[in-house]
Amino acid sequence: MNEEQRLASQQVKQPKTSEAKAEKDYSKYFEKVFTAPSLKDAKKRGKEDIKYHKDFAIDEQFLRMGEGRKFYIRTYGCQMNEHDTEVMAGIFMQLGYESTEDIESADVVLLNTCAIRENAENKVFGELGFLVKYKRKNPEMLIGVCGCMSQEESVVNKILKTYPHVDMVFGTHNIHRLPNILQEAYMSKEMVIEVWSKEGDVIENLPKKRLGSIKAWVNIMYGCDKFCTYCIVPYTRGKERSRRPEEIIAEVRELAAQGYKEIMLLGQNVNAYGKDFEDLHYRLGDLMDELRKIDIPRIRFTTSHPRDFDDQLIEVLAQGGNLVEHIHLPVQSGSNDVLKIMARKYTREHFLQLVDKIKVAMPNVALTTDIIVGYPNETEEQFQETLELYREVGFEMAFTYIYSPREGTPAAKMVDNVPEEVKKQRLQRLNAVVAEFSSAALKQLEGEVVEVLVEGSSKRRDDVLAGYTRKNRLVNFEGPTELVGKLVKVKVIEAKSHSLMGEFIEQVKEKVELV
Ligand code: 5AD
Ligand code: SF4
Repeated sequence: MNEEQRLASQQVKQPKTSEAKAEKDYSKYFEKVFTAPSLKDAKKRGKEDIKYHKDFAIDEQFLRMGEGRKFYIRTYGCQMNEHDTEVMAGIFMQLGYESTEDIESADVVLLNTCAIRENAENKVFGELGFLVKYKRKNPEMLIGVCGCMSQEESVVNKILKTYPHVDMVFGTHNIHRLPNILQEAYMSKEMVIEVWSKEGDVIENLPKKRLGSIKAWVNIMYGCDKFCTYCIVPYTRGKERSRRPEEIIAEVRELAAQGYKEIMLLGQNVNAYGKDFEDLHYRLGDLMDELRKIDIPRIRFTTSHPRDFDDQLIEVLAQGGNLVEHIHLPVQSGSNDVLKIMARKYTREHFLQLVDKIKVAMPNVALTTDIIVGYPNETEEQFQETLELYREVGFEMAFTYIYSPREGTPAAKMVDNVPEEVKKQRLQRLNAVVAEFSSAALKQLEGEVVEVLVEGSSKRRDDVLAGYTRKNRLVNFEGPTELVGKLVKVKVIEAKSHSLMGEFIEQVKEKVELV
């Protein structure tokens, strides 16, 4: 089936939604809707093969589309979104657009959105309301919504109803179609909507306009099949699809040759890397083993799932070199009952065992995590188990959240007896423990020498430089701006609450020792 046929076949499908009223909204716009989202369709994991498209190229007819025009992209949410923005910026540049930081002077404004929690969505709706005033001043301005929120039918309905000044909505699987979507938006008076709910493809050769020149993001896989009961990601990002190792290795080599110093490998669940290969037994440990031989100082990955974290990976990471000794390992809860309802598919004991294994292999490791408090019906005892687990592991830092119901996920249907006020208090109590551990970890470093990758100078003073250690701790120190982009040794003088103050010692010899 070619692309046109596929679009045509999807056009006949009315988006399914539980709200009859919402359906009416869609039908009104149906002629102009290419494809509307459906969380129900997104849930199905088909057996169809993953197709690799290596031949992405922008159709000649679009190549002058951006001449004399500027684009502005605002990014919300995770690093995957940040990287998608780099891809879209790359496409814009190939179309001849210029980038601008000044939203008012932009001809195209895109909001690359996040759906992970309600407050992330509210920020986007607030911004959409705000954009009306620019659109009034400049009716030619195109406003687009993309990213995870556009995969939700409730969001698309709301945009249709409340934000008619939006010109285009496109999904996370439709990024490579940006030229076609823009073209349609220029020609159409109606809102253009193109959101594919199911996708089994991996598209290579997409252009990228990278935002930095020191650190770079590299996708290793897309999607998530874990379906934790609270999480919208498996619906908004589709099924797990791994990039082929040779593509990833070539991209990292190329970035090393361009002078990048640090790579962040990205995936919603990187430990499932390679599970979808039918012709090849190749997992994250194998990939890391290849990447550690590349001459680049630092390689990280995010995000891990404890369930798929295997011994081979631990063994490879323990060899160090350019593989940093920092692992972000979301635990979500310390209670077996809550973990079960979350469908995390591991127990507290399994998690602690894994942590032990990691610590034995990597005694110098820094572990960080994600935790959700106030899960439906979470008891005080269950919450206490989370606090205890936190202390037992001794995480150095955590991202902590109050559970936010996401329409379409199983947890959103649960009756919840935990009052909002109790959830807020639990978050504060957890954050106090997180702060205690992170400041202790920083305090321990006073007097030590750490390796810092210098990323820039402080906003207020040019001679105060800022950078991160291998364990991702922020360090400030006085030094010349020529050190930006370099690896340096810094002696830690004082631990602040979220960062370290240090004294420059010397530049690090950058050749990575191969181990
Ligand atoms: N409510 C609150 N936090 C959530 N996360 C994911 N979904 C939700 C939700 N519905 C958190 C998890 C995840 C991180 C990226 O966001 O902790 O690891
Ligand atoms: Fe969401 Fe992560 Fe669970 Fe996947 S593994 S469903 S991305 S929390």
